[in-house]
Amino acid sequence: MILGLGTDIIEISRIEKVVSKFGDKFLAKLFTSKEIESIRARKYSAQHIAGRFAAKEAIIKALDPDWNKDFTWKSLEILNGPSGVPEANTVGDFSKKMPENSQIHLSISHSENYATAVAILETR
Ligand SMILES: CC(C)(COP(=O)(O)OP(=O)(O)OC[C@H]1O[C@@H](n2cnc3c(N)ncnc32)[C@H](O)[C@@H]1OP(=O)(O)O)[C@@H](O)C(=O)NCCC(=O)NCCS
Repeated sequence: MILGLGTDIIEISRIEKVVSKFGDKFLAKLFTSKEIESIRARKYSAQHIAGRFAAKEAIIKALDPDWNKDFTWKSLEILNGPSGVPEANTVGDFSKKMPENSQIHLSISHSENYATAVAILETR
């Protein structure tokens, strides 16, 4: 059963500006160490960072407003699986907020100027 759907779009130039102004501080506030590892491996690609940012926003929209009160950016971890498919997992206490047997489905896309993401929260 589908419990929620969310989408987000972001201008990549906004991310570029924040990364160049605040650098590692910005990344450390928003991303887990594994996400930062992946960002570093992609040579700090603004497209890649913006895609992850849009993904987290999309997932929050897919969640019930009652669950996302305790959300912090690092409550969600977005990593690419072996074939490149983005996979979203909840981290720490936030995992307990998720409905039982629920799964997040995520899709990310980016062009030269924008990154966008769609998330679906499903329960079996
Ligand atoms: C994987 C693929 C769909 C990515 O599409 P794209 O237009 O190059 O790139 P987009 O900006 O739309 O999407 C990139 C994001 O897709 C996601 N992605 C990568 N591989 C994926 C896959 N196998 N399945 C689903 N999503 C995937 C990733 O999140 C990636 O962003 P990230 O690496 O920063 O996390 C594409 O490269 C592909 O393999 N297409 C197969 C069909 C094909 O060859 N078409 C061309 C003929 S016209």
